[in-house]
Formats: sequence, C-alpha cells, structure tokens
Amino acid sequence: MKKVNFLYLRSQLPLLLLVFLLTFSTTIYSQDEPAVTATPAEDAAPPAKVPGDASGDVAAGESLFKANCAACHKLDKKAVGPPLRGISDKESRDWLHKWITNSQSLISAGDASAVKIFEEYNKMPMPPFPALSEGDIDNILAYLDQPKSAPAGEVTPDTAATQPAASSGGGVSNGLVLGALVLIFVLLVIMLFLVYGTLKRIAVAKGIDVTPEEREKHTPIWKAFIHNQFLVLVVSVFFILAATYFAFGYLMQVGVDQGYQPVQPIHYSHKIHAGDNGIDCNFCHSSARKSQTSGIPSLNVCMNCHKNISEVAEETATPEYSKEFYDGEIAKLYKAVGWDVDNQEYTGKTEPVKWVRIHNLPDFVYFNHSQHVTVAGIACQTCHGEIENMEVVEQFAPLTMGWCINCHRETNVNLESNEYYAKIHEELSKKYGVEKLTIAELGGLECGKCHY
Ligand code: HEC
Ligand code: HEC
Ligand code: HEC
Ligand code: HEC
Ligand code: HEC
Ligand code: HEC
Repeated sequence: MKKVNFLYLRSQLPLLLLVFLLTFSTTIYSQDEPAVTATPAEDAAPPAKVPGDASGDVAAGESLFKANCAACHKLDKKAVGPPLRGISDKESRDWLHKWITNSQSLISAGDASAVKIFEEYNKMPMPPFPALSEGDIDNILAYLDQPKSAPAGEVTPDTAATQPAASSGGGVSNGLVLGALVLIFVLLVIMLFLVYGTLKRIAVAKGIDVTPEEREKHTPIWKAFIHNQFLVLVVSVFFILAATYFAFGYLMQVGVDQGYQPVQPIHYSHKIHAGDNGIDCNFCHSSARKSQTSGIPSLNVCMNCHKNISEVAEETATPEYSKEFYDGEIAKLYKAVGWDVDNQEYTGKTEPVKWVRIHNLPDFVYFNHSQHVTVAGIACQTCHGEIENMEVVEQFAPLTMGWCINCHRETNVNLESNEYYAKIHEELSKKYGVEKLTIAELGGLECGKCHY
C-alpha cells in the first residue's frame, strides 16, 4: 500500500523541482533589472502662458528666472539680493536691461540708483548675464510683473512629484517567493491527504486490510523518517536549495549601499537649497561638468550667501524640523568658518566640517562625471534621484556593476552637438548594421574602460 503512495509522490518530484527553480531564478536575476530612472524635475513642462501679456513670455521668463536668478532673488522677500516682484515699476526698462546684462558697468558709470542699491546690499556684486538676450530679459521681467494674487508661474508640486520608479524590486520579489513557497507547501500537503484518502477508499472497496501492521510496533515517527531514504533525500534537497538561495541573496547585498543616508555634521538640506530656492546643482558641484569628480563645495561657497542669511524664514520650518533647529545649523556653519555674526567679520578661528561620503565606488572602478553629465547629457537625477526633494541625501542607485552595464546597454549615443562621434558612429553603425548605436556597441562594456 505504502509503495503506491510514494510512487505518486515520486512522479510529482520533477514538477516540484521545476516550480522551485523557476521561482528562484526570477529573483536571482532581479538585481539586473533597469529600475533606476527618475524624471528630472527640470523637465517639468512650464505652465501655460498668461493671455493678455504682450511684452514677454511668462512661462519662459519663469524658467529663466529659476535657472539664473532664484539662487539670490525671491519675488517678495529679501534674499541675497532684493525682492524683485514689480521691479519694472521702480526702474525703467532700459535701466533694468543694462543692470541685468552687467550691473557692475552701470555702477562704475556712476548711475545713482545703481550705486545706491549696491551699497544697500553691502557692495555684493551681482554676476553679469551677457548670455541673456533682450528677449530673455523681457521674458524675465514679464514674469516679475505677475501680481502676487495670480501666481501664474508657480510650478505645482505634482509636476515634480513624479516619484522615481525606485528599485525596490528586491524586497517585493523576496516576499513573493516566500509566499509562493508557502503556497506550494500547503498545496502539497493537501494533495497528499487527498491521494491518501482516495487510495484508502479504493483499498477498502477491494477488500484489502488497510490497518497497517507497523502501527502495533509503534515505530517513532523520526525513526520511520530516517529509514525512509526517499523522504530524507527530498528534505535535504529542500534545505540545500533554501540555504543556497539565502546565502546568494546575502552575498549580493554585501557592498551594496543603496539607500545609505548618514547623518551629516551640518544638517544641510538639498530640498531647501536646490528645491525650494532653486539653486543650480552646478553652483556648488561645479566640477561635475568638467572633471572626474563632482566634489563637495568648500564652506566659502556657502558664505557667499550666508553672510547675509543667518536665519531661515518662519515658513521654512516643518513639523519635523523647527526654525530653531535650522538656525542652529546655520550657527554651526558660522562656527566652522569662524564668522562672527554680531560684528560681521571673520574671527580666524576655523574648524573643518567632515562631511560623510555617501556615494563611493570601490577603488578599482573608474567613473567620470563630466563624461556622463557633459558628453552624454545625463541629468544628475537619473543617477542620484530627486536630490532637490531630499531633506537628507541618500544613495539612490545601487552602484553595482550590473547597474552601470545595464544603462550602457540601453542608452543610445548622444550624437547631437558632438562632432567627435559623427565619424565613429558612421563606421560602427555600418559594422553593426543598425541606425542607432548604444554605449555598449561603442565599447562601454569593455572591462578596461571601467576597471584600472
Ligand atoms: C549671486 C547672486 C545674484 C544672482 C544670481 C542674481 N542677482 Fe540680482 N542682485 C543681487 C544683489 C546682491 C543685488 C543688490 C545689488 C548689488 O549688491 O549689486 C541684486 C540686484 C538686482 C536688481 C536691482 C534691484 C533693485 O531693487 O534695484 C535687479 C533688477 C536684479 N538684481 C535682477 C536679477 C536678475 C533678473 C537675475 C537673473 C538673471 C539676477 N538678478 C541674478 C544678486 C544676484
Ligand atoms: C548650496 C550648495 C549645494 C547645492 C546647490 C547642491 N548641493 Fe549637493 N551637496 C552639497 C553639500 C554641502 C553636500 C554634502 C552634505 C550632504 O551630503 O548633504 C552635498 C552632497 C551631495 C551628494 C552626495 C555626495 C556624496 O557624499 O556621495 C549628491 C549626490 C549631491 N549633493 C547632488 C546634488 C544635486 C544633484 C544637486 C542639484 C539638484 C545638488 N547636489 C545641489 C551642496 C550643494
Ligand atoms: C545661493 C545661496 C546659498 C548658498 C550658496 C548656500 N545657502 Fe544655505 N541657505 C540659503 C537659503 C536661501 C536658505 C533658506 C532660508 C529660508 O528658508 O528662509 C538657506 C538655509 C540654510 C540652512 C538652514 C536650513 C537647512 O538646510 O538645514 C543651513 C544649515 C544652510 N543653509 C547651510 C548651508 C551650507 C552648509 C552651505 C554650503 C554648502 C549653504 N548653506 C550654501 C542660501 C544659500
Ligand atoms: C551616470 C550616473 C551619474 C550622473 C549622471 C551623475 N552622477 Fe554623481 N555620482 C555617480 C557615481 C557612480 C558616484 C560615485 C563616484 C565614486 O565613488 O567615485 C557619484 C558621486 C557624486 C558625488 C560625491 C562626490 C564625488 O564626486 O564622488 C556628488 C557630489 C555627485 N555625484 C553629484 C552629482 C551632480 C551634481 C550631478 C549632475 C551635474 C551628478 N552627480 C551626475 C553617478 C552619477
Ligand atoms: C544612466 C545611464 C548610465 C549609467 C548608470 C552609467 N553610465 Fe557610463 N556612460 C553612459 C553614457 C550615455 C556614456 C557615453 C558617453 C559618451 O558619449 O562618451 C557612458 C560612457 C561611459 C564610459 C566611457 C565608455 C567609452 O567607450 O569611452 C565609461 C568608462 C563609463 N561610462 C563608466 C561607467 C561606470 C563605471 C558606471 C557605473 C558606476 C556608469 N558608467 C554608469 C551612461 C551611463
Ligand atoms: C560600465 C562599467 C563596467 C564595466 C564595463 C565592467 N565593470 Fe566590473 N565593476 C564595475 C563596478 C561599478 C563594480 C563595483 C560593483 C560594486 O561595488 O558592487 C565592478 C566590480 C567588478 C568586480 C568585483 C566583484 C563585484 O561584483 O563587486 C569584478 C571581478 C569585475 N567587476 C570584473 C569585470 C570584468 C571581467 C569586466 C569585463 C567583462 C567588467 N568588470 C566590466 C563596473 C564595470
């Protein structure tokens, strides 16, 4: 009788193993999935143009203002520079054009109101903007002329709130696998019981005595188990598979610091600086565009603004972080650079701020920022997530080799404004017989390109 029972189980074994392997294999490779893409908020479509404004494009003006001026100017509040809403009522259009293009030449020419405002702001020079065309300046002025009641230009938060499809894949699929395993196990037990019941009924119908003799001998269950080689085999295979799976999962996590979010010596908020105040990333990480590393700005960069900003506005405080907390953090900055707020002078006593490094590739990997940011034109947010919404920076991408390789396989070479590639592209696209070339085909998978 027993024999029939196990024959059934044995015929199910290959199927079972297949199910096991399938469920495992899907998660084993989940690390490679290209889940890391974020929408750069800068791409958010500017809001519609306000009708009836003939002199300039408000939406275009707003994005120009955010990109060039918002670091120092607010519409209604003093920041580094004066508030600018309705500035055309105060000064003539001609004066404003001259000022914005090059304020210093206006000041050195002795223009009365230029000198006055310059002195009012502690003789802090505003940078010249020779790149802005007349039309650009008109657009900015049109934006600045928007009345406060109709903040036509305000970007609604939801344009920027498109959450990154963060690579949470690992966690979800782990849960799924465990669920599936439990389900399979339960089904198996039910099946065994059903089969047992059916066989017993058949046996009874055929008049076979099913009360097992062993029962009388009362063999303990573990002894029966040990004597049954087949059961031992199945259980061992199960444990080996499970152990391998968890060991593999654990090893893949070693050295992957996705989500790493250390506490910094000064609570510096990217959300407040790069987000709310629209300070361009390049203002502080200027070397990202031209060199291998992005670098962390020196505290002198901070003091360009913080000589004048010693406390945050009331509305900057959140339930989590109070105004006192933020002001205390600015005080830490002053202590580090040795700035005496009361007397507005440097004391000369400085102490270094030891920022905790977040992103860190192993020493044997070569990664170059300018190649990705300037040559390929990839937005910071693609690799670093929506930094401008992070109160505290965290590591967004896994920084594994699979992550680099995946993007190189999928991204096409950016040929626009890049003559260097035009010729190589032509040759290679002939070689591969394709219209568009990926970075991989350009050589982006060669070990030597990334490894010293
Ligand atoms: C690095 C900081 C900084 C940036 C960036 C900046 N400004 Fe200024 N701006 C100032 C300061 C400081 C003053 C006050 C005058 C002075 O000290 O030169 C000022 C003054 C002005 C004034 C004169 C205001 C008045 O009341 O007379 C105008 C207009 C102005 N800025 C427009 C702009 C525009 C438009 C942009 C962007 C294209 C811009 N600024 C970018 C710092 C800046
Ligand atoms: C006003 C200066 C300033 C601006 C603007 C700024 N940052 Fe930073 N950034 C810092 C400082 C200071 C740190 C180090 C402290 C920290 O990690 O929060 C930092 C850290 C970082 C880090 C983590 C570095 C590490 O240790 O791995 C990244 C990534 C980063 N910034 C990206 C950006 C991006 C992207 C933008 C534009 C959206 C931006 N930053 C704008 C000052 C700035
Ligand atoms: C271009 C101007 C500018 C620069 C450069 C700048 N800040 Fe700020 N900072 C601001 C403004 C504006 C606020 C917010 C004021 C408010 O909300 O009322 C602020 C607020 C702060 C605060 C309080 C809120 C917070 O983030 O915790 C700290 C601390 C701070 N800055 C530190 C720094 C440090 C450190 C640097 C240099 C890495 C720096 N800032 C560079 C303009 C600047
Ligand atoms: C293609 C992906 C990618 C892009 C795009 C990118 N970064 Fe990075 N970033 C990285 C990697 C990878 C590291 C770690 C580098 C290392 O450890 O050598 C890093 C490190 C950093 C650091 C830490 C300091 C350093 O230089 O190692 C800062 C700050 C930073 N990035 C800022 C930026 C800014 C600002 C931009 C946009 C102008 C940007 N990144 C664009 C991938 C990227
Ligand atoms: C978001 C996509 C993306 C990610 C992520 C990315 N890269 Fe790249 N990488 C590119 C593009 C696009 C180029 C082509 C730039 C060019 O046109 O030269 C490139 C080029 C390179 C090159 C030069 C290849 C050549 O043939 O000259 C190296 C080296 C490189 N990347 C290393 C890395 C490393 C290391 C990482 C991971 C830490 C990484 N990249 C992550 C998109 C990416
Ligand atoms: C696009 C860039 C890139 C290319 C091409 C590349 N690697 Fe890597 N490799 C990396 C990065 C980034 C890491 C670090 C991963 C980490 O720290 O988790 C790495 C790590 C490694 C490691 C250490 C083991 C590990 O996973 O941490 C070995 C071994 C390795 N690579 C071998 C190779 C070989 C062999 C090739 C050529 C077939 C190659 N790599 C091509 C970027 C690259």
